[in-house]
Amino acid sequence: MALPHGSLFLGFDSSTQSLKATVLDSNLNIVKSEQIHFDSDLPHYKTKDGVYRDPSDNGRIVSPTLLWVEALELILERLVKSGLDFGKVAAVSGSGQQHGSVYWKKGGSGILSSLDSKKPLVDQLGDAFSIKESPVWMDSSTTTQCREIEKAVGSALELSQITGSRAYERFTGPQIRKIYQTQPEAYNNTERISLVSSFMASLFVGAYASIDHTDGAGMNLMDINQRVWSKKVLEVTAPGLEEKLGKLAPAHAVAGNIASYFVERYNFNKNCLVVQWSGDNPNSLAGLTISIPGDLAISLGTSDTVFGIASDPKPGLEGHVFPNPVDTQGYMVMLCYKNGSLTREDVRNRCAEKSWEIFNKYLEQTQALNGGKMGFYYKDHEILPPLPVGFHRYVLPNFTGNDVEGLNEQEVKEFDPPSEVRAVIEGQFLSMRAHSERFGMPSPPKRIIATGGASANGSILNSLASIFGCDVYTVQQPDSASLGGALRAAHGWLCSQKGSFVPIADLYEGKLEKSALSCKLSVKAGDQELVSKYALLMKKRMEIENRLVKDLGRC
Ligand code: XUL
Repeated sequence: MALPHGSLFLGFDSSTQSLKATVLDSNLNIVKSEQIHFDSDLPHYKTKDGVYRDPSDNGRIVSPTLLWVEALELILERLVKSGLDFGKVAAVSGSGQQHGSVYWKKGGSGILSSLDSKKPLVDQLGDAFSIKESPVWMDSSTTTQCREIEKAVGSALELSQITGSRAYERFTGPQIRKIYQTQPEAYNNTERISLVSSFMASLFVGAYASIDHTDGAGMNLMDINQRVWSKKVLEVTAPGLEEKLGKLAPAHAVAGNIASYFVERYNFNKNCLVVQWSGDNPNSLAGLTISIPGDLAISLGTSDTVFGIASDPKPGLEGHVFPNPVDTQGYMVMLCYKNGSLTREDVRNRCAEKSWEIFNKYLEQTQALNGGKMGFYYKDHEILPPLPVGFHRYVLPNFTGNDVEGLNEQEVKEFDPPSEVRAVIEGQFLSMRAHSERFGMPSPPKRIIATGGASANGSILNSLASIFGCDVYTVQQPDSASLGGALRAAHGWLCSQKGSFVPIADLYEGKLEKSALSCKLSVKAGDQELVSKYALLMKKRMEIENRLVKDLGRC
């Protein structure tokens, strides 16, 4: 079944620092893209990097919920100005940063279903939330709740076997438990809890949209095998939770027809479908068309993530297992790092005169392996490994790349600027290689598909190819999450026409090579001798990392 000629599919990505939109035509080519940058386009919210960091430094990191609402209106206005005819949009879907949560006050659904198209959304939703600042994925303030939930379920491993992950601070279950414990009134006054993804979908349908199975797996609340809320975990998280979460839905399902608000205000067609939104990483998996188990995707954005697909994953104490958003039987496996682009930018600002050109020049003029210099840079509390803010630098004297046995690292205070640049990049990629091997991801991968802002940087991709020892591919648009949102809008539209699930391959059959989804070879695999030398450095790095976790970590 083909997509109707002339129809458009609109995808969003409501991420940490921005809201992006991508519009695909019926041949899956990009016809428009737009972006709102929260700090600079909506300065009155006074966010830094899209968030508020609690000055008491207890790890609380939130974003004002209304910021996301206002960003949506602004991007729709910009799309109108750019000449987009919303009347041609057959379906809308999107991505939300994973784990972030929105708390609708009692009466919220009434406000949502009676929006007046003559007034901006932001003027009407000011009183719709029981908590006005949404906890986001960067938050690390819920260690107590994580340990409580793991203990009450039995153990961290048992929780992981049920929900796909052990308890993580940013996951929504521990976040909800903290709100229940510290703001019981607000919790009791909450009618519905949405994820960022289902929140944005709710705005579009003018009613509470379900949480989809894939993003639901990032909450430590859903049974990933049955794809239903786990009663056992709900019970130990907070009372009365099932009712506040509503029902789950598959990612390909339709959340509803677009609300009259958007038909009247922006001229959407009243038959336009809103397909379930999902998390940014799951939608990136869809946008990158990852369907071969040997493929590894690496997203280099505000967070860095490493992900791929698996048919029979074994959830353990590290990494995450989510249902695959475009395959009802399959799963996706993922690792997530908090110190991604903001940490690379910090090194660029301190050591490379705030210039990517100089940063790249340093990366190119320094030798692979960095003469045995290794850095651990945690500008924010890291997830993997769970280490607090801090920078740690070591040198392995006399490291020639042939052996690390008997070589003892020495801690140093600083590196020269070019070495610092190489140390941050090599450190991030060596950690990804080590943890992805430990998690059972393909090693070496058949190929890496790189995405996210930094995937546009050729010098960074060269290091990636050298460390992993495989070819690195990229797609036309580094923002695979909004592209994936648009693709899933088209997929959901097809499934709805057919009345049942349609394999995603049916959607891009014959179109893939010519469409915006096709991957291009960017960097050839590095030399294999160097890959082995990196393996030695990686071994040493993991020894140091394990020691740091023992001395400073909290898990
Ligand atoms: C994934 C995670 C981040 C956010 C970023 O577990 O926490 O990648 O999804 O938006």
